[in-house]
Amino acid sequence: MSEGAPIETALSELARIEAAYEAALSGAHDEQELRRERAKLLGGEGELTKLMRFMPKIPNERKKEFGQKVNGLKRAIEALFEARLEAIEAEARKAELEGPYLDVTMPSRARTPGRIHPIARVEDELIEIFGSLGFELADGPLIDTHANCFDRLGFPPDHPATDMQDTFFITRKELGAEETTLLRTHTSTLQIREMMKRKPPLAVIAPGTVFRRDDDATHSPMFYQLEGFLVDRDVSFAELKGVLTLFARRLFHEEISVRFRPSYFPFVEPGGEVDISCVFCKPWEKDEARTASCRICKGTGWLEVLGCGMIHPVVFENVGYDPREVSGFAFGMGLDRIAMLKYGVPNIRLLYENDHRFLSGF
Ligand code: DAH
Repeated sequence: MSEGAPIETALSELARIEAAYEAALSGAHDEQELRRERAKLLGGEGELTKLMRFMPKIPNERKKEFGQKVNGLKRAIEALFEARLEAIEAEARKAELEGPYLDVTMPSRARTPGRIHPIARVEDELIEIFGSLGFELADGPLIDTHANCFDRLGFPPDHPATDMQDTFFITRKELGAEETTLLRTHTSTLQIREMMKRKPPLAVIAPGTVFRRDDDATHSPMFYQLEGFLVDRDVSFAELKGVLTLFARRLFHEEISVRFRPSYFPFVEPGGEVDISCVFCKPWEKDEARTASCRICKGTGWLEVLGCGMIHPVVFENVGYDPREVSGFAFGMGLDRIAMLKYGVPNIRLLYENDHRFLSGF
């Protein structure tokens, strides 16, 4: 700032700022530049701010005039700043709207495609395996009648499976309902439904959800089963064995052995349970120490996978078939259990919690 009477110097400095600010603000091309220009004038060390420090040196009678001039200029600068800011924003927006629709420089979003759930994978594989043997796919309602779920399958009225403790009832005859209905406790209902609808020969599989009052590390109140059955003339247990051996070998491993143990289900006679070679310690590889210490099969080398048997004559009678003419076999397995064995899943809840850390492993 030049020497001379302080008021003259201050006024000429003011005039210089006044003459230059418009060009400075108008020349700014973006918001950052504009703010920088404004700070050069009005910031803590800005030209106009510094000018105000002259005030004490200004003669008293001219203080008011000087103050008004500085304030007037300050307002003018602020007004122009606001106007320019608005214009710059409008221009940027216009450029964005008129610019290319697609910004090819933008980083892409990571894609996380879904996967097939382990139960659905096992279901698909079983449909494929049994389908290749000629089994057709059938489906039925999740709420079914007591008759289809128990009575027609030969369950006596007081069988424990029909108990309140084991079953989710929907309506009950004892309470005035026309029919007792419930969430089906097994897919064996499809044996009744399909046989009542159709005439033999038939070979059917029916996968689906079933419901029981059960909840622990290996049981869930809702779980999956797959029912299979075949009815024709002269069907024997040998055919049942053949079909189930082939299923186990195709699904798990071609060297799997299959073992049948007698067991009881009201709708089959004889009835059995099927064990397969343990898929974890692989006894067919003959590492006896490994099998002896296997915690999954508890050292036996065998895993229980399903129930089966020759369809009971009473079932045929209940669906209107003549048991002297036809015979057949049936089997039922838990898809959850099969998936747990196939994929080494330790806890059934993992299949239902939808936890990404678990599901992304498939
Ligand atoms: N329905 C039986 C259950 O839920 C499983 C079963 C056993 C199905 C034997 C069958 C069979 O078809 O023959 O435990």
